[in-house]
Amino acid sequence: MQPCSSDVLVCRNARSAAQEVAERFTSAALSSVAAQGIFHVAIPGGSSSRAAFELLASEPYASLIPWDRTMVFFTDERCVPPDHKDSNYRLANDLLLSRVPIPPSNVYRFPGELPPIEAAAEYEQVLGQKMGERPRFDLVVLGMGEDTHTASLFPNSPALDETQKLAAANFVAKLEAHRLTLTIPVIRGARRVLVLALGSAKAHAVKEVLQGEANERLHPVQSVAPIDGRLLWVVDQEAAAEL
Ligand code: 6PG
Repeated sequence: MQPCSSDVLVCRNARSAAQEVAERFTSAALSSVAAQGIFHVAIPGGSSSRAAFELLASEPYASLIPWDRTMVFFTDERCVPPDHKDSNYRLANDLLLSRVPIPPSNVYRFPGELPPIEAAAEYEQVLGQKMGERPRFDLVVLGMGEDTHTASLFPNSPALDETQKLAAANFVAKLEAHRLTLTIPVIRGARRVLVLALGSAKAHAVKEVLQGEANERLHPVQSVAPIDGRLLWVVDQEAAAEL
Protein backbone atom coordinates (compact mmCIF):
# COMPACT_ATOMS: atom_id res chain seq x y z
CA MET A 1 0.00 0.00 0.00
CA GLN A 2 1.35 3.41 -0.88
CA PRO A 3 2.10 5.78 2.01
CA CYS A 4 -1.25 7.35 2.70
CA SER A 5 -1.95 10.12 0.26
CA SER A 6 -4.24 12.67 1.76
CA ASP A 7 -4.98 16.35 1.86
CA VAL A 8 -2.72 18.16 4.28
CA LEU A 9 -3.75 21.59 5.48
CA VAL A 10 -0.82 23.45 7.02
CA CYS A 11 -2.06 26.18 9.34
CA ARG A 12 0.00 29.11 10.57
CA ASN A 13 -0.35 28.10 14.22
CA ALA A 14 -2.33 25.96 16.65
CA ARG A 15 -5.02 28.63 16.94
CA SER A 16 -5.72 28.68 13.22
CA ALA A 17 -5.66 24.89 13.17
CA ALA A 18 -8.33 24.83 15.87
CA GLN A 19 -10.32 27.29 13.79
CA GLU A 20 -10.11 24.94 10.79
CA VAL A 21 -11.32 22.02 12.88
CA ALA A 22 -14.25 24.04 14.23
CA GLU A 23 -15.20 25.22 10.73
CA ARG A 24 -15.09 21.73 9.31
CA PHE A 25 -16.94 20.20 12.25
CA THR A 26 -19.69 22.81 11.78
CA SER A 27 -19.83 22.35 8.03
CA ALA A 28 -20.03 18.56 8.38
CA ALA A 29 -22.80 18.91 10.96
CA LEU A 30 -24.87 21.26 8.80
CA SER A 31 -24.47 19.23 5.61
CA SER A 32 -25.14 15.91 7.37
CA VAL A 33 -28.32 17.19 9.02
CA ALA A 34 -29.46 18.78 5.75
CA ALA A 35 -28.86 15.51 3.89
CA GLN A 36 -30.00 12.90 6.40
CA GLY A 37 -31.44 14.72 9.38
CA ILE A 38 -28.68 13.62 11.74
CA PHE A 39 -24.92 14.08 12.34
CA HIS A 40 -22.84 11.26 13.78
CA VAL A 41 -19.39 12.35 14.98
CA ALA A 42 -16.60 10.72 16.99
CA ILE A 43 -14.23 12.95 18.95
CA PRO A 44 -10.84 12.16 20.51
CA GLY A 45 -9.08 12.82 23.76
CA GLY A 46 -5.70 14.44 24.14
CA SER A 47 -4.63 18.07 24.27
CA SER A 48 -4.62 18.88 20.55
CA SER A 49 -8.40 19.08 20.29
CA ARG A 50 -8.88 21.24 23.41
CA ALA A 51 -8.84 24.56 21.56
CA ALA A 52 -11.22 23.24 18.91
CA PHE A 53 -13.64 22.04 21.61
CA GLU A 54 -13.55 25.47 23.23
CA LEU A 55 -14.21 27.16 19.88
CA LEU A 56 -17.17 24.87 19.18
CA ALA A 57 -18.63 25.89 22.53
CA SER A 58 -18.35 29.57 21.57
CA GLU A 59 -19.98 31.78 18.97
CA PRO A 60 -20.59 31.54 16.08
CA TYR A 61 -20.24 27.74 16.15
CA ALA A 62 -22.34 27.00 19.24
CA SER A 63 -25.38 28.63 17.65
CA LEU A 64 -24.76 27.24 14.16
CA ILE A 65 -24.45 23.56 15.06
CA PRO A 66 -27.75 21.62 15.24
CA TRP A 67 -26.94 20.04 18.62
CA ASP A 68 -30.34 18.37 18.91
CA ARG A 69 -29.49 16.32 15.77
CA THR A 70 -25.83 15.78 16.66
CA MET A 71 -24.83 12.39 18.09
CA VAL A 72 -21.43 12.52 19.79
CA PHE A 73 -19.37 9.38 20.22
CA PHE A 74 -15.72 8.99 21.27
CA THR A 75 -12.81 7.58 19.28
CA ASP A 76 -11.36 6.07 22.42
CA GLU A 77 -11.28 6.21 26.18
CA ARG A 78 -9.11 5.40 29.11
CA CYS A 79 -10.31 2.74 31.56
CA VAL A 80 -11.37 5.27 34.17
CA PRO A 81 -14.69 6.66 35.48
CA PRO A 82 -16.23 9.61 33.60
CA ASP A 83 -15.19 12.10 36.30
CA HIS A 84 -11.56 10.97 36.36
CA LYS A 85 -8.94 13.57 35.40
CA ASP A 86 -7.73 11.30 32.54
CA SER A 87 -11.19 10.67 31.08
CA ASN A 88 -11.65 11.75 27.44
CA TYR A 89 -15.34 12.12 28.17
CA ARG A 90 -14.61 14.48 31.07
CA LEU A 91 -12.32 16.58 28.87
CA ALA A 92 -14.97 16.95 26.15
CA ASN A 93 -17.74 17.50 28.68
CA ASP A 94 -15.84 20.21 30.56
CA LEU A 95 -14.73 22.10 27.44
CA LEU A 96 -17.67 21.54 25.09
CA LEU A 97 -20.59 19.27 25.88
CA SER A 98 -21.62 20.93 29.14
CA ARG A 99 -21.51 24.33 27.44
CA VAL A 100 -23.80 23.68 24.45
CA PRO A 101 -27.48 22.67 24.27
CA ILE A 102 -26.81 19.05 23.30
CA PRO A 103 -29.28 16.64 24.90
CA PRO A 104 -27.34 14.34 27.27
CA SER A 105 -29.01 11.42 25.47
CA ASN A 106 -27.09 12.44 22.31
CA VAL A 107 -23.72 11.80 23.98
CA TYR A 108 -22.38 8.24 23.99
CA ARG A 109 -19.28 7.72 26.11
CA PHE A 110 -17.31 4.52 26.56
CA PRO A 111 -18.25 3.14 30.01
CA GLY A 112 -14.61 3.40 31.16
CA GLU A 113 -15.64 2.53 34.70
CA LEU A 114 -16.41 -1.06 33.65
CA PRO A 115 -13.85 -3.84 33.20
CA PRO A 116 -12.21 -3.27 29.77
CA ILE A 117 -13.70 -6.21 27.86
CA GLU A 118 -17.16 -5.45 29.26
CA ALA A 119 -16.78 -1.75 28.44
CA ALA A 120 -15.84 -2.45 24.83
CA ALA A 121 -18.68 -4.94 24.46
CA GLU A 122 -21.18 -2.44 25.82
CA TYR A 123 -19.95 0.27 23.45
CA GLU A 124 -20.11 -2.18 20.58
CA GLN A 125 -23.76 -2.77 21.44
CA VAL A 126 -24.56 0.95 21.62
CA LEU A 127 -22.81 1.60 18.29
CA GLY A 128 -24.80 -1.21 16.70
CA GLN A 129 -28.09 -0.03 18.18
CA LYS A 130 -27.58 3.62 17.21
CA MET A 131 -25.77 3.27 13.88
CA GLY A 132 -26.40 -0.25 12.63
CA GLU A 133 -23.95 -3.11 12.22
CA ARG A 134 -21.72 -1.08 9.89
CA PRO A 135 -21.58 2.39 11.47
CA ARG A 136 -20.73 5.18 9.03
CA PHE A 137 -19.67 8.29 10.92
CA ASP A 138 -20.12 11.60 9.14
CA LEU A 139 -16.92 12.78 10.80
CA VAL A 140 -14.21 11.17 12.91
CA VAL A 141 -11.77 13.61 14.52
CA LEU A 142 -8.47 12.07 15.56
CA GLY A 143 -5.27 13.18 17.22
CA MET A 144 -1.91 11.51 16.76
CA GLY A 145 0.75 10.68 19.30
CA GLU A 146 4.48 11.15 18.73
CA ASP A 147 4.60 7.36 18.28
CA THR A 148 2.01 7.74 15.47
CA HIS A 149 -0.77 6.10 17.50
CA THR A 150 -4.27 7.39 16.97
CA ALA A 151 -7.43 6.82 19.00
CA SER A 152 -6.11 4.02 21.23
CA LEU A 153 -4.57 2.14 18.33
CA PHE A 154 -0.93 1.97 19.33
CA PRO A 155 2.02 0.51 17.41
CA ASN A 156 1.77 -3.29 17.48
CA SER A 157 -1.21 -3.17 19.85
CA PRO A 158 -3.75 -6.03 19.65
CA ALA A 159 -6.63 -3.76 18.60
CA LEU A 160 -4.89 -3.24 15.24
CA ASP A 161 -5.87 -6.81 14.36
CA GLU A 162 -9.56 -6.37 15.19
CA THR A 163 -11.40 -6.42 11.88
CA GLN A 164 -14.84 -7.64 12.97
CA LYS A 165 -15.73 -5.77 16.14
CA LEU A 166 -16.70 -2.09 16.20
CA ALA A 167 -14.97 -1.34 19.51
CA ALA A 168 -12.11 -3.06 21.29
CA ALA A 169 -10.24 -3.11 24.58
CA ASN A 170 -6.51 -3.62 24.36
CA PHE A 171 -3.66 -3.69 26.79
CA VAL A 172 -1.10 -1.08 25.73
CA ALA A 173 2.29 -2.28 26.97
CA LYS A 174 3.99 1.11 26.86
CA LEU A 175 1.25 2.60 29.03
CA GLU A 176 0.95 -0.50 31.19
CA ALA A 177 -2.78 0.08 30.94
CA HIS A 178 -5.85 -1.06 29.03
CA ARG A 179 -7.40 1.37 26.56
CA LEU A 180 -10.76 1.34 24.79
CA THR A 181 -10.98 2.26 21.11
CA LEU A 182 -13.03 2.31 17.95
CA THR A 183 -11.60 -0.24 15.57
CA ILE A 184 -10.00 0.47 12.22
CA PRO A 185 -13.00 -0.73 10.15
CA VAL A 186 -15.27 1.75 11.95
CA ILE A 187 -12.88 4.67 11.46
CA ARG A 188 -12.33 3.73 7.82
CA GLY A 189 -16.09 3.53 7.29
CA ALA A 190 -16.44 7.25 7.96
CA ARG A 191 -17.36 9.85 5.34
CA ARG A 192 -14.72 12.21 6.67
CA VAL A 193 -11.67 11.60 8.86
CA LEU A 194 -9.75 14.57 10.18
CA VAL A 195 -6.36 14.04 11.84
CA LEU A 196 -5.08 16.95 13.93
CA ALA A 197 -1.36 17.16 14.73
CA LEU A 198 0.21 20.20 16.34
CA GLY A 199 3.63 21.28 17.55
CA SER A 200 7.27 20.53 16.82
CA ALA A 201 7.17 17.33 18.88
CA LYS A 202 4.93 15.79 16.19
CA ALA A 203 7.04 16.93 13.19
CA HIS A 204 9.02 13.70 12.81
CA ALA A 205 5.93 11.52 13.20
CA VAL A 206 4.03 13.58 10.62
CA LYS A 207 6.87 13.16 8.12
CA GLU A 208 7.18 9.43 8.84
CA VAL A 209 3.46 8.86 8.36
CA LEU A 210 2.93 11.02 5.29
CA GLN A 211 6.23 10.60 3.47
CA GLY A 212 7.89 7.55 5.02
CA GLU A 213 7.38 3.79 4.72
CA ALA A 214 3.82 2.51 4.70
CA ASN A 215 3.64 0.32 7.80
CA GLU A 216 0.30 0.36 9.58
CA ARG A 217 1.47 -1.81 12.49
CA LEU A 218 4.30 0.59 13.20
CA HIS A 219 2.29 3.69 12.28
CA PRO A 220 -1.38 3.02 13.15
CA VAL A 221 -2.50 6.47 11.97
CA GLN A 222 -1.63 5.31 8.44
CA SER A 223 -4.62 2.97 8.64
CA VAL A 224 -7.37 5.59 9.04
CA ALA A 225 -7.97 6.64 5.43
CA PRO A 226 -11.69 6.26 4.74
CA ILE A 227 -12.63 3.50 2.28
CA ASP A 228 -15.28 5.79 0.79
CA GLY A 229 -14.66 9.25 2.11
CA ARG A 230 -12.11 12.00 2.65
CA LEU A 231 -9.04 12.13 4.85
CA LEU A 232 -7.77 15.54 5.87
CA TRP A 233 -4.72 16.26 7.96
CA VAL A 234 -4.78 19.58 9.82
CA VAL A 235 -1.33 20.49 11.07
CA ASP A 236 0.38 23.66 12.20
CA GLN A 237 3.67 24.88 10.71
CA GLU A 238 5.67 23.37 13.56
CA ALA A 239 4.24 19.90 12.98
CA ALA A 240 4.77 20.29 9.23
CA ALA A 241 8.38 21.44 9.61
CA GLU A 242 9.93 18.21 8.23
CA LEU A 243 7.61 17.82 5.23
C1 6PG B 1 -6.24 9.86 23.88
C2 6PG B 1 -6.48 10.23 22.45
C3 6PG B 1 -5.23 10.02 21.69
C4 6PG B 1 -4.72 11.41 21.35
C5 6PG B 1 -3.30 11.36 20.90
C6 6PG B 1 -2.75 12.77 20.72
O1 6PG B 1 -7.05 9.17 24.46
O2 6PG B 1 -5.22 10.36 24.39
O3 6PG B 1 -7.59 9.92 21.85
O4 6PG B 1 -5.34 9.25 20.53
O5 6PG B 1 -5.54 11.97 20.34
O6 6PG B 1 -2.55 10.70 21.90
O7 6PG B 1 -2.74 13.36 21.98
P1 6PG B 1 -2.31 14.90 22.13
O8 6PG B 1 -3.29 15.68 21.32
O9 6PG B 1 -2.40 15.18 23.60
O10 6PG B 1 -0.90 15.00 21.59
